[in-house]
Amino acid sequence: SFLPVILAGGVGSRLWPSSRQLRPKQFLSLDGGPTMLQRTLERLDGLEKQPPIVICNEAHRFLVAEQLRQVGSENHRILLEPVGRNTAPAIALAAIAATQGGDDPLLLVLAADHLIQDVEQFHASIEQALSLAELDYLVTFGVVPTYPETGYGYIHQGSPLRAGFGVRRFVEKPDAATANAYIESGEYLWNSGMFLFRASRYLQELKRFHPDMLHACHQAMSHLERDLDFTRMDGEAFARCPEISVDYAVMENTQHAAVVPLSARWSDLGSWSSLWDISDKCESGNSCHGDVIQEDTRNTLIRAESRLVAAIGLDDLVIIETKDAVLVADRHKTQDVRKIVERLKSDG
Ligand code: GDD
Ligand code: MG
Repeated sequence: SFLPVILAGGVGSRLWPSSRQLRPKQFLSLDGGPTMLQRTLERLDGLEKQPPIVICNEAHRFLVAEQLRQVGSENHRILLEPVGRNTAPAIALAAIAATQGGDDPLLLVLAADHLIQDVEQFHASIEQALSLAELDYLVTFGVVPTYPETGYGYIHQGSPLRAGFGVRRFVEKPDAATANAYIESGEYLWNSGMFLFRASRYLQELKRFHPDMLHACHQAMSHLERDLDFTRMDGEAFARCPEISVDYAVMENTQHAAVVPLSARWSDLGSWSSLWDISDKCESGNSCHGDVIQEDTRNTLIRAESRLVAAIGLDDLVIIETKDAVLVADRHKTQDVRKIVERLKSDG
């Protein structure tokens, strides 16, 4: 059995304008069904597990509580971060919460914004990972890479180890030349961003590599305030945490990593082009969502959220219509949506 820890505190800026400060992508449905957070929980149905800890920003507490209620979740805890300090501190808070009663559960750390199309394979990988986590490994889930993505972590696969493999090296977000070399070598896997480890093991590693962070997190968790499903910590103590992801803080440094293969049609829906990659296309090769009419248009992603959108004679575009903003972009430049969001922020 394990305890799911769901990281739901990211901002998802590359999916603007659908993803907004008040409603980042993990709280959205991209296909009209359950939201990405709800899918993350439902994907665990059928596995033996404890009630989850969801960790998110204070600003999103009602969204999270309501979305958990809608999928019938019970006995979960929602940890509220007063400020975002990236994933290493977030996981530390969850690990401290999980061990406060004297327990030391295995934590399955999940991002709230991934798509996994083959749930059976996903469950099989978790089962494999459990046997390694029991032996006190920090287990990653490795995906066979298909192109030199620089936004992911890379795992240099080692020799067979029980149900998985050892890890020779973990490299977070390499530059393009390095990513290219990794792909060509055929020896690297993408880090899917999910982890399984014993809570105490993670805290031990943090103590070794970032004692300041662990200290701030312990202080933050020494004054807890509970109301309903919400747990609030000491915000001032938490704000003293350095801002750093689990990948840089722990996975690049640890000697105790292992990897299990994940072939579950995983994708990180980070940008509109990654949504394009996995979406069904109509006869003319477009992917349309909502009230859309098109003529003589090819290879174009069109999402109409609140109005009718008509397109004529277009090729290779992304058109995202929402109530108060419209994005029209080259389908190969959707990484740059982040730049627009930064400009919007700095212009107030
Ligand atoms: N609670 C909380 N607090 N959650 C956070 C915070 C935070 O401050 N920052 C990010 N998250 C959540 C996001 O919502 C997301 O679900 C998850 O943590 C991962 O954060 P990302 O910001 O999306 O990470 P990434 O995509 O750049 O990189 C990670 O995922 C890749 C695969 O998708 C790394 O683990 C990479 O190595 C990996 O390849
Ligand atoms: Mg991500």
